[in-house]
Amino acid sequence: IGIIMDGNGRWAKKRFLPVQAGHRAGMKALHKVVEAAGQMGIEYLTVYAFSTENWKRDKEEVDYLMELAVEYFIKEIDEFDRKNVRVRMIGQRDRLPQKVRDAAVTMEERTKDNTGLFLNVALDYGGRDEIVQAVKNIVASGCKAEDVTEELISKNLYTADLPDPDIMVRTAGENRLSNFMLWQNSYAEFIFSDLYWPDCDADFLKWVVEEYQKRDRRYGGRK
Ligand code: FPP
Repeated sequence: IGIIMDGNGRWAKKRFLPVQAGHRAGMKALHKVVEAAGQMGIEYLTVYAFSTENWKRDKEEVDYLMELAVEYFIKEIDEFDRKNVRVRMIGQRDRLPQKVRDAAVTMEERTKDNTGLFLNVALDYGGRDEIVQAVKNIVASGCKAEDVTEELISKNLYTADLPDPDIMVRTAGENRLSNFMLWQNSYAEFIFSDLYWPDCDADFLKWVVEEYQKRDRRYGGRK
């Protein structure tokens, strides 16, 4: 499952709160949803926490989101390890503040042998950027044109060893992908909800799975 966690700003605005309060509430929702995903036996969850385009926001908001990311990785580390969750950060890395990278590496190292839910946190992530990086790696490896395959491209993405998502969720009433997992989403089922992300919880995730179960997947074939 992939989730585009949208609506933190609107959730805050509705309550006459600063946008930072919305992001903090979003972090709490993420805690609930990750916990529920583990309990429900979901194998892979990838959440869009910061896009390559989010740098355009006010410095204050960007700085706050970076602080929250550090806080999230530090705060959840014991619980993730106890609950057998494996965590990985996907995205560009080198443009992120050092403390975010350090917190992510500590989390990744600590949880790398866990075998339960695999949580990917996308930070400074962009789908097009990911494909550009993959092509650069392939070209740099000296690969011949005739050896380029879909599998080779998949293997060079941040999600190299993960299956493509079955479900792509977006909250807050927006029906677009905003540069998230462009390659991997080729056959995902899209599920949209009007709920703002901070209002999402275990019941929301159950609803998502129930919606998915109503879908008929043919992958371009015929039943
Ligand atoms: C979109 O809401 C949300 C984000 C850009 C950030 C997502 C971040 C979290 C859920 C919080 C914490 C998690 C980590 C690991 C940092 P928006 O602000 O675009 O909402 P709006 O469209 O209503 O303004």
